[in-house]
Amino acid sequence: MIELAVAQERAEPLGIDYRVCDARALPDLGAFDVICAAYLLHYARDTDELERMCESIARQLRPGGRLVALNENPRQPVERYGGYLHYGFSKSISGPRREGAPIAYAMVSGRELFRFEVYHFEAPSYERALHRAGFIDLQWHELVLDPAGIAEMGAGYWREYLDNPPVVGLSARRAD
Ligand SMILES: C[S@@+](CC[C@H](N)C(=O)[O-])C[C@H]1O[C@@H](n2cnc3c(N)ncnc32)[C@H](O)[C@@H]1O
Repeated sequence: MIELAVAQERAEPLGIDYRVCDARALPDLGAFDVICAAYLLHYARDTDELERMCESIARQLRPGGRLVALNENPRQPVERYGGYLHYGFSKSISGPRREGAPIAYAMVSGRELFRFEVYHFEAPSYERALHRAGFIDLQWHELVLDPAGIAEMGAGYWREYLDNPPVVGLSARRAD
């Protein structure tokens, strides 16, 4: 993914510097206004790793800077994990949904199926980890449909997904 981004930057430079780092222990990268963590925090395997990621991210923000994340939806009932096959993927869990329990995804890519696991944390665990890292103004955000998605597929196509969102937005601000 990053190799493709670097090739794109070479072809059409936007001044973006790509680095690959472990989010649990980021080096000093700068003091950013906004950090975007799309599908990242739920790769922590336990609450200790989740806290390390949040602390590591907080260190890269200027005071008042924002974290904007897309993440597993911790409030989605397990009974509703099915139901995405016509969107080209499945989401499932085997065993009880404890903190750190793996959630299995399988996605269709062309003629292939690829699988990966993310980890479940309750909403208060995310909130605690972010607060401990010095974040305030935590907000969970419902998904909103991009007009381009409506134009391409029609609003009806997305209704079932939006009525049962597998992922959710999360934002917070680093305390001044
Ligand atoms: C589902 S992909 C999302 C990629 C990209 N953010 C996007 O939205 O297209 C999740 C990414 O998180 C990365 N990841 C998982 N654990 C990580 C960690 N501890 N530090 C940094 N990246 C990690 C994986 O390597 C993978 O590239």
